[in-house]
Amino acid sequence: MLDQSFLVRGPRVAVRRISFQDREEIAALTRESAALHHPWIPARDTTEEAFRAYVAKFDQPTHEGFVVCLRESGAIVGGVNINNIVRGGIQSGALGYVAYATTTGHGYMTEGLRLVVRYAFTELGLHRLEANIQPGNVSSVRLVERLGFRLEGYSPRFQYVDGAWRDHERWAVTAEMTEQAAGSDPR
Ligand SMILES: CC(C)(COP(=O)(O)OP(=O)(O)OC[C@H]1O[C@@H](n2cnc3c(N)ncnc32)[C@H](O)[C@@H]1OP(=O)(O)O)[C@@H](O)C(=O)NCCC(=O)NCCS
Repeated sequence: MLDQSFLVRGPRVAVRRISFQDREEIAALTRESAALHHPWIPARDTTEEAFRAYVAKFDQPTHEGFVVCLRESGAIVGGVNINNIVRGGIQSGALGYVAYATTTGHGYMTEGLRLVVRYAFTELGLHRLEANIQPGNVSSVRLVERLGFRLEGYSPRFQYVDGAWRDHERWAVTAEMTEQAAGSDPR
């Protein structure tokens, strides 16, 4: 059963780890979402070889890869990665996330990313998550604002996207911030 692989569930979506078996579904979603994703994230190669290498990255302790699915059908509506995880006295990682064209704008990513943030701070033992966002990416900024991230700073020429080194804003949330937002119950 699909349901048994979910790590966390919200009212409408649930989150599980990405696997190679997701390739065809994600390839189709990625193709139909080219206009949504451009120019905010690097173009994605979903050929068999490239996708195998992509999911293999999540075998390393420095990377976690998740898909956000509708609870009822299991259909994939988004993806969230935690990249470049640093342990020790830092306990931090960098988020990457995407919605897909047919299901964007329904609040699924808000719910899914909130679930991943909570999972990261509880089950994965992380303390801080950052999201590096191009200043014009209004939907992405609104998403992290809704989840209580704060603007930490500005990183000129931070990431190579769409043929150039792009400036990014650095947004972040720490475990204490989510606990405060949830009042006395951090879950
Ligand atoms: C950034 C991105 C993931 C946001 O996805 P999204 O679909 O807007 O996120 P949600 O599913 O949470 O939808 C939020 C929107 O749905 C609306 N919404 C509609 N019904 C809703 C409901 N029942 N509950 C919550 N929100 C709802 C919200 O008001 C919000 O609209 P707004 O952005 O105009 O304020 C998406 O735009 C994307 O994939 N962009 C390209 C890739 C990218 O930029 N990645 C991040 C790089 S830093």
